[in-house]
Amino acid sequence: MATDETRAGERGVQASDRPPGPDGLPLVGNTVSFLQDPLAFYAHCADDFESDVVSYQIGRSDGYMLTDPAYIEQVLVTDHADYHRGNIINDTLGEIADGGLFLLEDEAWQKQRQALQPAFYRDRIESYAEVMVEFAARGTDDWRDGEAVTLTDEMPTLTLDVLAKTLLDIDIEGEESTIGAAARAITDRFDAGSLSAFLPLWVPTPANRRCNRAVEQFDAQIAGVIANREQSDREFDDLLSILRSVELEDGSGLSDQEIRDELFTFLFAGHETTALALTYTFCLLANNPAKQAKLHDELDVVLDGERPTAASLFELDYLGKVVDESLRLYPPAYTVFREPLEDVQIGGYEIDSGSVLSMPQWVVHRDERWYDDPDEFRPERWTDEFENDLPDYAYYPFGGGPRHCIGMRFALMEAKLAVATVAQRYRLEPGTELPLDLSMQLTLKPSNPVDVVVERR
Ligand code: HEM
Repeated sequence: MATDETRAGERGVQASDRPPGPDGLPLVGNTVSFLQDPLAFYAHCADDFESDVVSYQIGRSDGYMLTDPAYIEQVLVTDHADYHRGNIINDTLGEIADGGLFLLEDEAWQKQRQALQPAFYRDRIESYAEVMVEFAARGTDDWRDGEAVTLTDEMPTLTLDVLAKTLLDIDIEGEESTIGAAARAITDRFDAGSLSAFLPLWVPTPANRRCNRAVEQFDAQIAGVIANREQSDREFDDLLSILRSVELEDGSGLSDQEIRDELFTFLFAGHETTALALTYTFCLLANNPAKQAKLHDELDVVLDGERPTAASLFELDYLGKVVDESLRLYPPAYTVFREPLEDVQIGGYEIDSGSVLSMPQWVVHRDERWYDDPDEFRPERWTDEFENDLPDYAYYPFGGGPRHCIGMRFALMEAKLAVATVAQRYRLEPGTELPLDLSMQLTLKPSNPVDVVVERR
């Protein structure tokens, strides 16, 4: 990776210059190599052009990779109003839920974000801690000594169960639920990892047909949950109850379609990302026995055999560092996209409206300007002093600015409680060795199943 001295940055740049970058094929530009192997594409852009602004061609759009934390802060925070999240996301998820928080823009987004924020206040999130621990304990109770557990299968089930319970107050645990099946069919369709993943849903490929069927079944289940709610006189305290009581400025509420789009957004934005964070964390611990032993010691001293709680997380300092370091090395959201609404200047370069900006955590989190031995799993690096010295936006697993992840607190609490619950009971040994073979799809996913071998402590 390039160092400070070698980067071109803004030095000597004229606004009309085109930033350095890879040559593409005529017409398709760099789209094919990006789709075939985004990881290699980002590495090529980061290593070979020695610039914090790298240009390329994606479809018919100009693409730019930004890797200087100051430019990332400029786009996500300081000048956020000059950007939209952009078509690259709309063209995919927008086919299924174009009204959810992830895809709304401007005033419509602002109203909805404001209305939903109370569902993510600290007190409310903390009230979910018991469910999170209970589900992590029950979900891993049947692990047997010497068994190879496939994290890539078990973690998405766990996180979806937790979300369904906390957001909708429905138990899907242990059964083959419509929501679980829909989640799989929809992620499969978008994760085909090839051009076909970008074919519109009306093209009747087998993956599209499965996805459409799953969406219909998902809609039917959600409609059922909403109808039951209307007939029930029980008090609910979940995201659905907040969505149903939202009052917009004109006094109206959200339509059933808007509620459905929001639930869809939350289930999908929240379950796979958190499952990946858990998968990577367990795999890193299994492959780093000394770090795992240090975590065991902390859990034994602080918890003394009791279950972890929201309050105990304040004392579990090393656990927090383990999760932070795992999200640095393997950020489930591996890049943030934005599109400028008008022509803008970044790093001295003129960038046209409608260009696609990619700010890859994958590259920035492993930049040796900010991290010594960046590829090493070293939770100890997260001292207060280190954090104070780290530029803002050299670490941003949950994005930044007004559109940062609304589920951040939820995800961090769930991840820490699940890691604590498992590590308290089991020692993990590597089933799958590092480095992992990864594929960048909607999220950063392992290309193959990831296993750990478990042994009761
Ligand atoms: C480790 C787990 C997670 C990671 C790494 C993650 C990452 C992110 C990132 C990077 C963004 C910002 C994207 C952008 O700026 O373009 C985002 C947005 C979002 N996330 Fe998460 N997320 C996680 C868990 C969750 C959970 C648990 C939920 C819901 C319960 C959730 C719901 C959302 C929503 C609704 C947005 C859009 C927010 C808006 O535009 O206002 N995420 N997430």
